[in-house]
Amino acid sequence: MLSAIDDAKSGRGLLVMLASEPGIGKTRIVQKLGAIAEKRDAQMLWRRCYEGEGAPP
Ligand SMILES: Nc1ncnc2c1ncn2[C@@H]1O[C@H](COP(=O)(O)OP(=O)(O)OP(=O)(O)O)[C@@H](O)[C@H]1O
Ligand SMILES: [Mg+2]
Repeated sequence: MLSAIDDAKSGRGLLVMLASEPGIGKTRIVQKLGAIAEKRDAQMLWRRCYEGEGAPP
């Protein structure tokens, strides 16, 4: 995932999916990556997905 930050900065965007059982630490990992991205002069944007049944696109 660290290399994905550098790839994005050099114009090669990609999608990284982080999936696991609940509570394993996904959000925390991404928060740490955000801090690293800022140090590398990159900006992290946050959005949240609706988790309910019949979630809109
Ligand atoms: N490496 C770690 N060391 C100590 N505590 C951690 C670590 N990673 C995560 N935690 C703690 O474990 C809890 C769950 O972490 P987190 O919310 O990141 O999990 P998650 O995978 O995003 O959960 P969910 O699937 O519910 O979204 C939080 O209280 C977080 O602070
Ligand atoms: Mg989470």
